[in-house]
Amino acid sequence: MYKKLSQELLSFLKKSPSTFHAVKSIAEELEKDGYQEIGEGSIWSISPEGKYYVTRNDSSIIAFHLGKDLDNYGFNIAASHSDVPTFKVKEKAELEVKKKYIQLNTEGYGGMLCSTWFDRPLSIAGRVLVKKDGHFETRLLNVDRDLVMIPSMAIHMNRQVNDGYAYNKQVDTLPLFSCGEASKGDFDKLIAQELGVKECDIYGKDLYLYNRAEGTVWGAEEEFVSSQHLDDLQCAFGTLKGFLAGYHENSVNVYACFDNEEVGSATKQGAGSTFLYDVLRRINSALGKTEEDYYRAVSMSFMVSADNAHAVHPNHPEKTDASNCVYMNEGIVVKSHAGQKYTSDAVSVAVFREICERAEVPLQFFANRSDEAGGSTLGNISSTKVSLNAVDIGLPQLAMHSAYETAGMKDTAYLVKAMEVFYNSHICMEGGRISLS
Ligand code: CO
Repeated sequence: MYKKLSQELLSFLKKSPSTFHAVKSIAEELEKDGYQEIGEGSIWSISPEGKYYVTRNDSSIIAFHLGKDLDNYGFNIAASHSDVPTFKVKEKAELEVKKKYIQLNTEGYGGMLCSTWFDRPLSIAGRVLVKKDGHFETRLLNVDRDLVMIPSMAIHMNRQVNDGYAYNKQVDTLPLFSCGEASKGDFDKLIAQELGVKECDIYGKDLYLYNRAEGTVWGAEEEFVSSQHLDDLQCAFGTLKGFLAGYHENSVNVYACFDNEEVGSATKQGAGSTFLYDVLRRINSALGKTEEDYYRAVSMSFMVSADNAHAVHPNHPEKTDASNCVYMNEGIVVKSHAGQKYTSDAVSVAVFREICERAEVPLQFFANRSDEAGGSTLGNISSTKVSLNAVDIGLPQLAMHSAYETAGMKDTAYLVKAMEVFYNSHICMEGGRISLS
C-alpha cells in the first residue's frame, strides 16, 4: 500500500516538472473527480454540494467542495506550495563562450543547494505566451529530453573545492547547451519547434531548469522515496488525496496550493496575495450569505499549512533540536516556533492532535535549535490576509532544496489519512469551546 502510493506520488512529480505543470496536474486530478473550473473573471454561480476550482496565474490553485447544510459553516483549509527552488532562464537566453560554446543565461529562483545541480542531465519546463489569430495563448512547455548540463570544474582546476566553495550564480551554474553544433538563436528556435509555432509568435516566457533523473523508491526495506520537488509537492499531493476523499455537510472544504513560497509569497498569486481571501469572500457571497455570515465562518475555520520538515540528518544529528526532532516514516510533523514563523499554538496543535488520533496516524514535533534561524513557510503569511486558527505541519525529509530530495515511504500515506479525517470534520469554535464533529 505504501509503495503503491509512493509510485503514484512519483508519477505525479514526473508530470509536474514546473510550477505550471504542477497546477495542471492538480487540476486534472480535480476534474477526474468532477470538479468544475470557474474563472476569477466570470460570475460565480455555485450551489451546495458543488465542487469547483479556480486558478490564478496558472501557478496557484484553490479548489472547494461545499457541504449541503451551510447555515453555520466554517472553512476547512489545507494549503501547500507549488513552486520549487530552481534556475530561471533569462529572456535573452544564450551566451557564447570563445565562439564555441553556447550556454544559457540563468538566475536563481529560491534557495537551492547549488552543488546538487552539477553534472546531471537537466531540461527546461515552464510556460510560453504565444500569439495566435490576434490573441495570446498560454502554452505549457516541457522539453522532454536531456537538454542541458552544468559541468563541474575539474578538481585539477580547483584544488580547494572540497574545502568549501562559494558558487557564483552568474559564473558557476550556467548550463551548457551546445558545443559548436548549434548557433546563436537556436534556443528560441528549439522552443518554437517544441510548441509547433513560429518564433515570431512567441511573446513571453517563464522557463526553468529541472532535473531529468526519475524518482525512485530505495533502501534496505524500500523505506525511502527520492525525487526532485518533494518540497512541497509531496504535501500538495497528500493534501489533495485527502481533500478528494473528504466531505462534511456543514463545512466548506478548501484545498489551496500557492506559487512563490520559495521567494517569500509576496506576489499576486502567492500566499501573501489576496487570492485565498478573494475566493473565500466570493464563496460566501455567491451562496447568498451576508458579511456577518462570512465573519462567523472565518471564526469557525481552520487551516493546515503543509510544507515539508527537516528529518534528523544521519551525518549531522547535532543540527536538529535535541528533543523536538523528527524521523522519516514516523509520521506527520507539527512545527512550532516561539516567534510564530510557524502558526502552531496550543489550540491548533490540540485540534490537529485530535485529527491524527482519529486517523490513527503518528505525530512528531519539530522545533528549530534555539541557536539556529530555521526556515519559514506560507501559513503565517497567509494569516496576515485571512486570519484564522492554523497549524503548521509537514512531512520529514532530507536534503531539502536539493535537486534530488529524500523522504519516507510511509509518511505520504499518513498525510492522506489525516487530511481525509480533517476534511470529514466540522470544527466548531464557540465561546472558548472547541469541538470536532
Ligand atoms: Co517548502
